[in-house]
Amino acid sequence: MFETSLASSTAMTRAQFLRTCAQLAVAGMLSNSGLAASRTATAMATRPIPSTGEPLPVVGCGTYRGFDYAPGSDEYARLGRVVYALLEAGGKVIDTAAIYGRAERSVGEVLQEGNLRRQIFLASKVWSTGREAGVQQMERSLKDLMTDKLDLMQVHNLIDVKTQLATLHDWKANGRTRYIGITHYDTSAHDEVEKVLRSVPVDFLQINYSAEEPDAAKRLLPLAADLGVAVIINRPFGGGGLMRRLRDKPIPVWAGEIGCGSWAQILIKFVLSQSAVNCVIPGTGKPEHMMDNAIAGQGPFPDPSFWTKRATIIA
Ligand SMILES: NC(=O)c1ccc[n+]([C@@H]2O[C@H](COP(=O)([O-])OP(=O)(O)OC[C@H]3O[C@@H](n4cnc5c(N)ncnc54)[C@H](OP(=O)(O)O)[C@@H]3O)[C@@H](O)[C@H]2O)c1
Repeated sequence: MFETSLASSTAMTRAQFLRTCAQLAVAGMLSNSGLAASRTATAMATRPIPSTGEPLPVVGCGTYRGFDYAPGSDEYARLGRVVYALLEAGGKVIDTAAIYGRAERSVGEVLQEGNLRRQIFLASKVWSTGREAGVQQMERSLKDLMTDKLDLMQVHNLIDVKTQLATLHDWKANGRTRYIGITHYDTSAHDEVEKVLRSVPVDFLQINYSAEEPDAAKRLLPLAADLGVAVIINRPFGGGGLMRRLRDKPIPVWAGEIGCGSWAQILIKFVLSQSAVNCVIPGTGKPEHMMDNAIAGQGPFPDPSFWTKRATIIA
C-alpha cells in the first residue's frame, strides 16, 4: 500500500520515486513487494559486448563472501531475493568463482530453485595450475552451478594464465562457455594484465576500478576499448572499505544531478562514467543492497570530467 501511494503520486518524479524506493529498501522497509514496484521503473541500461554486439546490462552481482552461506542460515535464505532483485531491475550478470567457498553451489541452487538459469549471464573463474587440474575444477564449477554451459569463464588472477587460456579457447570452441576472459583485482598486476591482453585474444577483461583505485582508466580501459574487449569491473566499493568510510556522511547535493540517492549509487556511477566499461559487479548477499545498486544502472551516466573535482570527496 505504501509503494502504491508512492507510485501513484503525481508530485513525485520517476527518479525521486526510485531514490525513495532505494532509501526505503536500505532501511529494510521494502521487501518482495518493493521489488515488484521497481519492475515498472526505467529499465537498466545495457552496453554491447564488443566481440558479438550482445547487449549486457550494466549492473550485476558479485558473489565473493555474500553468497558463501549454507542452507539453513538466515543469510542463505535471502539469496533468492538478491537474484530476483537483480532480474526485476533488468540486470542479469552474476559473477562467481570456484574459490569463493560454497558460492557457486548457492548460485546453482538459487537458479535451479527458480528455474532462472536462462535469464542469467553466468560468469565463473578457474584458479588452478596445470591443464588437467584446471579442467577438473571447471567441470566441478559447472556441476555446482547446475548448468552444462557458462556464459563467461575467466582465468582468475592470471593464475597459470597461458595453460588455462588455451583450455578456455577449446571450451569456447566446444560450446562449454560462450565467452572467455581474464581477471585481476590488484593495481600492481595491471602491467601483467596488459601483456596478456596484447598477446592472447579474449572476449572479457575483469579488473578493479573505483574512486579509490582509479588506475585502470589510464591504460587498461582504453586498451580494452581498442582491442574490442568487454570490461567487467570488480571491487567498485574498494572491497567494501569505501562504503564503510562513507556510510555515515550525508550524500552530496550534486548526487541528484546524476540521479543518485545513495553512496553506493554514486560509486557505481563513477565506474559507469567510463564508456569502456560494460558492467560493474558490486558484491552483495543482501536484497536491499542489490536493489540499491541496480538503480545506478539507469542513466544518466556523467562524463568522466564530472568527477574531476568530486573524486576527492568520495575516494
Ligand atoms: N580477482 C578477481 O577476479 C576478483 C577479485 C575481487 C572481486 N571479484 C568479484 O567482484 C565482486 C565485487 O568485489 P567485492 O565483493 O570484493 O567488493 P565490492 O563490490 O567493492 O564491495 C563489496 C562490499 O560492499 C557491500 N555492499 C554492496 N552493496 C552495498 C550497498 N548498496 N550499500 C552498502 N554496502 C554495500 C557488501 O556488503 P553486503 O554483503 O552487506 O551488501 C560488501 O561488503 C566480487 O563479489 C567478485 O564477484 C573478482
